[in-house]
Order: sequence, then structure tokens, then C-alpha cells
Amino acid sequence: MSTIESLENKDLPTFIYELENEEMKPMIEIRGLAKSFGTFHALKGIDLTIAKGTVFGFVGPNGAGKSTTMSILATLLAPSEGYAKVDGFDVTKHPHEVRKRIGYMPDFFGVYDQFKTVEYLHFYGASYGIPKAEREALIPQLLELVNLSDKKEAYVDTLSRGMKQRLCLARCLVHDPDLLILDEPASGLDPRARIEMREILKELKSMGKTIIISSHILPELAEMVDEIGVIEHGSMVAVGNVSDIQMRLRVKRFLHIRLHDRLDEAEQFLRDRPYVNRLLRDENGLQIHFGGQDEEQSALLLELITAGFRVISFSEAQTNLEDVFLEITKGGGDI
Ligand SMILES: Nc1ncnc2c1ncn2[C@@H]1O[C@H](COP(=O)(O)OP(=O)(O)OP(=O)(O)O)[C@@H](O)[C@H]1O
Ligand SMILES: [Mg+2]
Repeated sequence: MSTIESLENKDLPTFIYELENEEMKPMIEIRGLAKSFGTFHALKGIDLTIAKGTVFGFVGPNGAGKSTTMSILATLLAPSEGYAKVDGFDVTKHPHEVRKRIGYMPDFFGVYDQFKTVEYLHFYGASYGIPKAEREALIPQLLELVNLSDKKEAYVDTLSRGMKQRLCLARCLVHDPDLLILDEPASGLDPRARIEMREILKELKSMGKTIIISSHILPELAEMVDEIGVIEHGSMVAVGNVSDIQMRLRVKRFLHIRLHDRLDEAEQFLRDRPYVNRLLRDENGLQIHFGGQDEEQSALLLELITAGFRVISFSEAQTNLEDVFLEITKGGGDI
């Protein structure tokens, strides 16, 4: 039924409701997903929902289960238990529907010595059934997007690693998928190439793509993702938007205090105060691992001043994503 027909057969509120519901349908829905290799449990029952248009960062230490999850989403690996759906289609029951909608970039790149860059993209385009005339128009655009236009006649094997990564990304895009599953697209890239990769991903986000991207490079991920999920030993240990996760961990804050004088005395004074878990001295002043919240923090400053210490600055260091990651993955975590 066409959109017009469906509109004619329904009252407007129902039609709008259905349209909105369609948009609200998550791009990824994972429930109780488990994967075992023999007796080894690589995934231990994961739940995850990713809304359309989200850029989701998938974070975790080596062996946590990121690639396993992504391979299941890409229909390359069958789950042992639970299910994963892409745009409403179960990856096991409807793999063809899923494949039409996804672009998957694995964490390795095969050998294609017989292909030139442009031929490589034609090869993939043809395997998705895209007619030659369409490919002729599309491929230059893709090469432009990933900054490889000047390498179109180069043999794939002569490309640098960063160029191969970008070519691989272009390959994922030939069939204009809604979901990109990118397994460490920035690994092994130099800082400049990483920035370029990040810019390309930003552009893809602005085109409305949903992106799931795994990485170890957390501060970089924080800049471009809407949400992060932290996985460890096959279990999701935290999911949320970047600032929420940082907030939940701010119970462990770092304070930095600079004083005009009486540093030794202040050190002794602070050591005896509540919530001061650790105190370190550096060339600029005192660093405190503080267990209190805002109220206790302001009380501490007041105590210092009331005791006559001449405070130059009293500041809270921002926990960065690297700290968050270490905090969550240090063995179960406390969130
Ligand atoms: N085919 C397989 N056979 C046996 N064990 C496997 C297989 N594939 C993955 N594993 C194991 O499952 C666990 C999760 O691996 P996975 O590749 O998903 O981790 P990862 O989070 O992607 O790690 P990395 O950051 O190193 O890429 C690891 O312990 C790995 O050894
Ligand atoms: Mg991996």
C-alpha cells in the first residue's frame, strides 16, 4: 500500500501515530544475547537498545566481547541465546533484510592485490546488485567522501593503512545502509588520520546514519558519540550518554588546591577531614581524591578558609573518559 493509500484509509491521528512509532522503532534491539565458544562464555546475556540516528560508542578492554557482538549484528556469527534485531529484523531469522540495512567494517582488512581502488568499489557495488551506471555516479562521490579521489587508480595493496581503512569505510557505504557497524575503524591510524576518520563519521551522522563504533581511544570517542556502552567479560557494565556516565562516577572526584603558604600545616589539616581519601602533593599544591558530593566539597573549602588558610584556588579536575573507563572496568565497578 502506498503512503497516499494508507493515508486515505486512515484518520490523520492514527496515521501520524504510526509514522512516529516507525521513527521511534530502535535501530538495534538486543535482548539476553549470549555467545559461547565451546565452554567459554564470550557474551553473557547482553541487553542493549540503540535509537535511530544515534552514534553509539562501544567500549571495553581486549577480549570483552565487542567484536563478537558486532559480528552477530552483522549476521556473521549466530548467537547461542537471546536475540538481536536490526530495524526490527532478527539477525538469525531475516539475515538478508539485515544485510541490506547494514554496512559492516571488520577489524581486519583482507588482501586484494588484483584490484585498483575504483575496481574494488565496483566489485562490492556489483555484489550488492547496484547497476553499472549507478555505480559510475556513486563511486566518485564515495571516494570524495573518504578523501581517496586521487588514489582511485592505485592498487589497493599499495595504499597505506589509513587509506585502506577509509576505503573499507567507503565499501560499507556502497548500498547506502542505515546502520554502520564499525569495529575499531581508527585503530592503527596516526593522529591526523584519526581526525580525518572522525570528520568522515561526523558527516555520516549528519546524513542520518546510525553508527555503532568500537574503540579503545576513549577521549576521541567521547567527542563524537551520543552514547557509550561499556562491556567487560561479556557483560554490559554501563550504558548511557557520556555525561551521565561521568556524573555517576563523580563520587570519585579529584580536587586541586593551591595555597599561598603553610602547605605542611594544610596537608595535616586536610588529612584529618572527612571524605579525603588520598592526598598527594605536587609542585603546584595539593591533590585530593575526594569521596564527598557538592555539599561536602563546599564545606571543606569553608573549613580551610575559616582555619585561616590563604587559598589561591580550589578546583575540581574533570574526570575524563579514560578515568571513567578505568574506574568501571577495574573489576565490576560500583555503578
Ligand atoms: N571464534 C572464536 N573461538 C573461540 N573464542 C573466541 C572466538 N572469537 C572470540 N573468542 C573469544 O571471545 C572473547 C571476546 O572476543 P572479542 O573478539 O569479541 O573481544 P573484543 O572486545 O573485540 O576485543 P579486542 O578489543 O581485543 O578486539 C575473547 O576471549 C576471545 O578469545
Ligand atoms: Mg575486537
